Amino acid sequence: MVKAVRGMRDILPAHTERWRRVETSILQMLRSYSYAEVRLPLLEYTELFARGVGEATDIIEKEMYSLADRDGDSLSLRPEGTASCVRALEEHGLLYNQTQRVFYAGPMFRYEKPQKGRYRQFSQIGAEAYGFAGPDVDAELIALGYACWQQLGITDRVHLQLNTLGSGAARVAFRQALMDYLQPHAEALDPDSQRRLQTNPLRILDSKVAATQAIVKDAPQLIDFVDAEGLEHFQALQELLQQLGIPFQLNPNLVRGLDYYTHTVFEWVTDDLGAQGAVCAGGRYDGLVERLGGRDTPAVGFAIGLDRVVLLHELAHPDHSDNSADVYICVTSAEALSAAMQLGQQLRGAAPGLRVRVHMGGGQLKKQFKRADATGATWAVLCGAENQDDELVIKHLRDAAIGQRQLPVAEALMQLQQI
Ligand code: HAM
Repeated sequence: MVKAVRGMRDILPAHTERWRRVETSILQMLRSYSYAEVRLPLLEYTELFARGVGEATDIIEKEMYSLADRDGDSLSLRPEGTASCVRALEEHGLLYNQTQRVFYAGPMFRYEKPQKGRYRQFSQIGAEAYGFAGPDVDAELIALGYACWQQLGITDRVHLQLNTLGSGAARVAFRQALMDYLQPHAEALDPDSQRRLQTNPLRILDSKVAATQAIVKDAPQLIDFVDAEGLEHFQALQELLQQLGIPFQLNPNLVRGLDYYTHTVFEWVTDDLGAQGAVCAGGRYDGLVERLGGRDTPAVGFAIGLDRVVLLHELAHPDHSDNSADVYICVTSAEALSAAMQLGQQLRGAAPGLRVRVHMGGGQLKKQFKRADATGATWAVLCGAENQDDELVIKHLRDAAIGQRQLPVAEALMQLQQI
């Protein structure tokens, strides 16, 4: 038997109901903030990510799934959505002289070492806003994330970390100062950080290795390089968050693993998933549109890591049911099958969203009740000889006190819909 590719998971029926619940809740929240959906391809030219995410990042250096297509072009499965989103909106002239608030959802691919909460195919829901330079939209995006956690009942499991990287110029100056500081300590750094010293020294700041952390402790601080305008933006954002009642923690070492960020960066992190702490991350990337060939356009966004949010939802709501049906129609005689199927159609029509399963394959009523129970259905309906013309027999499968009842059809239908 050929197995699934390492790090690429099947989400089986026992889990999809929870996934759908989590996804629907987040997507509804995005719509309620009036973000509009954009659907993007899974494959893009490799160059888009190399230029967008940055050559010296882990993603580009070692995590892309790249292939040559038949005419030799290098294509890559998208490792993230932001570069594609910019490409799409720019390509269709949607960034010129206008603002945009959009979202996307779907799988991303990174060749990482798989473990709980970290996969090679994982799902993100991302939100991006273009054309807004002020901190208001930074705050809106953070508030939107917070609203999602509230709606999912996981607010107490995540907290917000916030930092500013300042303008592009501030980063260049800081990068140099950091390199100057770290160089004399190079030998004491861990091998990953030694390698990053030349390519991406900012990433050394969020190293998890104790020896490196000890060195980093006394390194120059990024905030000291941020100009007055950048500080004002950051200050205004913090004030807005306070007014909105969203708690946050400043983390001067939060630098993010993608190269395009400027000014605000943030991560929603949890302590409940071991090493995979970030469940949602993002920030401002004012230079990216221009870097990809468009005009200078302010931009900010985030992406939620759905796999991790689903894991948190599982911890927060272990008893969430993974039912696959609400009503199970038992068919107690072969002649009753078409009546049962019609009853199913009638119920689905009357109550959209109600999940109605008609028993197939015959068998005794006892077996059918067992099946009904296994789907998690609340009600069973008996369709067969016991039916009077204008009555239905329905049985509550979860509450013995309600038990089995014979009711006029209209009344029975009403009961079944109230789940
Ligand atoms: P990112 O931090 O690379 O940012 O990913 C965002 C989130 O995706 C992470 O916080 C995490 O929850 C989830 N994630 C990343 N890699 C994996 C993985 N291998 N397995 C499971 N979950 C994972 C971005 O992708 C940016 N595009 C976010 C953004 C949007 N910034 C501005 N706009």
